[in-house]
Order: sequence, then C-alpha cells, then structure tokens
Amino acid sequence: MSPFALLAAAPAALLQGGQGGGIFFPRPVTEAAAEHDRVFFLIFWIAAFFFALINVGAVVFAVRYRRRRKGEPVEKSPSHNTRLELVWTIIPTIIVCYLFWSGLKGYVDRRTAPPGAYTIYVTGQKWAWSFAYPEGFASNELHAPVGRPVKLVLTSNDVLHSVFIPAFRIKMDAVPGRYTETWFKADEAGRYNLFCAEYCGSQHSLMSAPVIIHRDRKTFDDWVKSQTDLSDLSPLELGQRLYTLKTCSSCHSTDGSKIVGPSFKDLYLSERELEDGSTVTADEDYLRRSILQSTAQVVKGFSPAMPDFSAGPLKVQPNELIGLITFIKAQSEAGRAELEAAGAGAEGGGEQQEQQ
Ligand code: CUA
Repeated sequence: MSPFALLAAAPAALLQGGQGGGIFFPRPVTEAAAEHDRVFFLIFWIAAFFFALINVGAVVFAVRYRRRRKGEPVEKSPSHNTRLELVWTIIPTIIVCYLFWSGLKGYVDRRTAPPGAYTIYVTGQKWAWSFAYPEGFASNELHAPVGRPVKLVLTSNDVLHSVFIPAFRIKMDAVPGRYTETWFKADEAGRYNLFCAEYCGSQHSLMSAPVIIHRDRKTFDDWVKSQTDLSDLSPLELGQRLYTLKTCSSCHSTDGSKIVGPSFKDLYLSERELEDGSTVTADEDYLRRSILQSTAQVVKGFSPAMPDFSAGPLKVQPNELIGLITFIKAQSEAGRAELEAAGAGAEGGGEQQEQQ
C-alpha cells in the first residue's frame, strides 16, 4: 500500500474502531477486547474533538482579536462568566468520571477470572514460554477451546517477562518469585500471537508463542489427549513429541537455524567446539549429558541458558531420555543411517499400521 493510499484509508479504518479494531489493533476476539476498543476509541474521539476545538479556537481568536496598530489600547474583556464556567467544569467532570469508571471496571474485570476458569500455569524463561496444563503436561503452545474462561497464572524463572496477546487485549507481567494472573474467554476459533512485551535480553523479540483456540470442546479435548497419551510410541515418536512438549523446539531448531541453542540438524557425531577451546564428539553420551546437565559442556558461542531437566517439574525420565536422543540422532545423516541399520524398519511398519 502506498503512503498516500494508507493516508486515505486511515479515517475509515479509524472510524470502524468498535468492530474492527481500526488501524491500531487486530480484530477483537474476546468481549473484553471489544470493550477495550470501545473505551479506547471513545477517549480517542473525545481527545480529537477537544484538540480541534481548542486549536481552531486559539487560531481564530488570535487572528480576530490581534492588536492591529502600534499603541492600540487593549480591548476590555469580560473577566468572569459564571454560566460558561459552570458548563466547562460540569461537562468535563462528567466525562472524566465516566472514563475513570470504564477504565476501573475494565481493569477489575481483567484481573478477576470467573470462578471455575480453566487454569494454565505460564512460565517465562529466557527466551521461551512454557504452558503447564491441569492435565499434567506442558507445551510451548497455548491451547484453549472457544467460549471457556481460561485463567493464566504467570511466573518467571529468571527476569521480568510479560505475556501480551494483542487479539485478546491482555498483557500481564511474569515476575520471578511470584505469581500474577490474567484471564480471557475467546469467542472465535483461530490462531493468534502471544508476545513477550518486556525487554528481557538479546532474544526478547523471538520470545513468542502461538495461541490456538479450538472451535469446540471436543477438538480441544482431543488435543489434550494427544499430548498426554504417550504410551505405545516408538522412541523416535516419543522424542518427536517431547521435542515440543518439553519446549525444546523453542530454543533448538531442526532446520539448521540458530535460535537460542544449537540446532539439532546434523548435530549427532559432529565435532563440537566448547567454550574452553576443547572439542568433543556429539555422541550419545554427549547428548545425554547435554540434556541432563546442560551447563557441563557449553558449546562455543552459546550461553548456558537451558533449564534443569535432571530434577523438578521438567525432569526427563529414562525412557524419555532415550526418545530425545533418538530424535536428535534422526536429525542427521549419520544418525538416520544408524537407526535404519538397527532396525528402524520395524518402526516404519508400526507407522503404516497406525495409518490404516
Ligand atoms: Cu521475555 Cu522479553
């Protein structure tokens, strides 16, 4: 769009504020977002009206009543008009009281989740989000069904982060050492963006997560089931699932791109140069140690930012460890050849059976 077309479209885009979000916001998909836009555009247009009134008035009066000749005596002006002063005191007082009430009401609404809301614990950590669901699993995606109130309980493992979902008009800080809360009820299925809105370091701009609103309760429950039911999976399938479940995918790519940590592509059996200048081969033992004690052998050019997977809520179980190592192996030529030779053909058969 050319700058001129943008300028021409601006007034129309602004005017449709209440329904469409205007040029300032994405289309609102919660009641709270629609209410937010209503108050925002009300304030915007009141401000625009008074801006025009005051500035046009100032220019008109300056021209109309300017001193025309040198030494011309200053015209007498009224010093007081009770009726006028009452009008410009009472009307603005009513307006600001209404705006205060709207803002306070919105603030309290946004801070008070309805009783019985589905609660998701959100943890921010440089530079990824983790969402822990009441069913006992974690994901790096925020999922919820349409029409169900969802309460987010936030905290951080390191520095200040902030959950910001523009389509829902909610924003809440994630603070280390304490919990904060916010909530939403989405009225429209779809995929939305969650951003970190608190500058938290060099990868701050990459600290985002998808918000997926399922069209009904059933598709959401199916998703939950797919996340929790990990039995009957081959090590490779388990590893593939854990790659997102344990939020590895937030920091480690499989296509060679550098996110926060090294990519898994062609990692297996490659030579790794460590921070202290020594080199080590990325064999299974190296992978195991890097998962359980990520700070033991930090690869040159990376910071020891990985959470502790040897204990606590993220603890990797022995079978999960095998799954993750298998998955990492499968991302390199050497690893794939090894898996095939070891009889991964049986896995291929398993997959075919599942598809039938
Ligand atoms: Cu986390 Cu910015």
